[in-house]
Amino acid sequence: MKILVVGSGGREHAIIKKLKENSKIEQIFALPGNGGIAMDATCVNIGAKDIDSIVDFAVENKIDYAVVAPDDPLVLGCVDALEDKGIPCFGPRKNAAIIEGSKAFSKELMKKYGIPTARYEIFDDAEKAYAYVEEVGAPIVVKADGLALGKGVLICSTEDEAKDAIKEIMEDRIFGESGARVVIEEFLEGPEVSVLSFTDGSTVVPMVSSMDHKRALDNDEGLNTGGMGTVAPNPYYTDEIADICMEKIFIPTINAMKKENREFRGCLYFGLMITKDGPKVIEYNCRFGDPETQVVLPLLESDLFTVMRSCTDGTLKKEDVRFRDESACCVVVASSGYPKKYETGYEISFDEDMDAEVYIAGAKKDGDVLKTSGGRVLGVVSTGDDLNEAIEKAYRNVQKVHFENAYCRKDIGQRALKALK
Ligand code: AMP
Ligand code: GLY
Repeated sequence: MKILVVGSGGREHAIIKKLKENSKIEQIFALPGNGGIAMDATCVNIGAKDIDSIVDFAVENKIDYAVVAPDDPLVLGCVDALEDKGIPCFGPRKNAAIIEGSKAFSKELMKKYGIPTARYEIFDDAEKAYAYVEEVGAPIVVKADGLALGKGVLICSTEDEAKDAIKEIMEDRIFGESGARVVIEEFLEGPEVSVLSFTDGSTVVPMVSSMDHKRALDNDEGLNTGGMGTVAPNPYYTDEIADICMEKIFIPTINAMKKENREFRGCLYFGLMITKDGPKVIEYNCRFGDPETQVVLPLLESDLFTVMRSCTDGTLKKEDVRFRDESACCVVVASSGYPKKYETGYEISFDEDMDAEVYIAGAKKDGDVLKTSGGRVLGVVSTGDDLNEAIEKAYRNVQKVHFENAYCRKDIGQRALKALK
């Protein structure tokens, strides 16, 4: 069997390594992949947004199954284009990927179906948005409607900050067309939990929960990043909270999408906040999270390909999806300066006695040498019987990764450990 995976980050590397556990898979192509993924798959230099070339490649190479991992190609309709050529896919079609592609859509969906989320208003006129901010005051959250590389959310502690945010998004268009509309919503407080789920459009199976660390520096200081590390499971996601989420959020969302004729198949990511009034949806993503995937998939006991296939075929209900009762920790090692300006092109080396998984995100091959090519370079992932063991093992192995200008947060998982006490 020949599989194609669209994408190029640590998430895709984790997906590919997990898929390889299935012996029926003979070859995996990564489009475009990266220098590290090249150790586990055949990388083909086709960009993740180049839908026509992806489809041509899949047809020419008689691909049996495609996994479309990033948000951009999903929102652009990559799954539709592949399925139209008879290639089965893991991932939602365009009309369902809109759950991430438009925040206005997802907020209206939640309102219509009574799914708990922050109160909000949608504006396509900046003057009305300013007036609304004056009416409700701060703190308040301003979000660009469309995809903005994960940067379209501005938490504003004063009215002036909120007005500046609206100006930047709607008038200066710092996120381009994504800012034609804004969602302005109530500021919520509480611990955050990421729950990825498998779904075939009717059945939803949550994966083990996880906790992201979005800020660049220790103690959640510094700028927002794509994610500096993760742990799983997330201690704030108790069995009681999980039951509430299933009943009030997960099932209602899947049913709502079906009712709207936007059946969602693939991985639906629930970004949740556990507020004093119960769990609420902060955001939906139409895909696996990065770097959540790097801690969730190593704990998956079932065969990933089989589960993915059942989401495509609508047979998830019959599948026994199991996770190991262990913990995992991912520490992202980045280039100094990330998420702002940083240098690349440094040689990466590993000590021979590493005993952790390494998922490469931003590196390329230069002959036989692996060199840094991105802000987030790689994730070191360890599992253990408990969170303490997983964290300790991950950090022990981070010492065995070497490249100039490397930096990582030193406190991944500490908040989770405190919550356990
Ligand atoms: P997103 O880009 O949608 O993942 O949002 C980035 C981060 O902004 C989230 O992980 C939250 O920490 C924060 N955030 C988003 N919406 C709200 C809200 N309504 N109240 C408080 N924080 C929020
Ligand atoms: N880690 C959050 C995301 O993938 O958007």
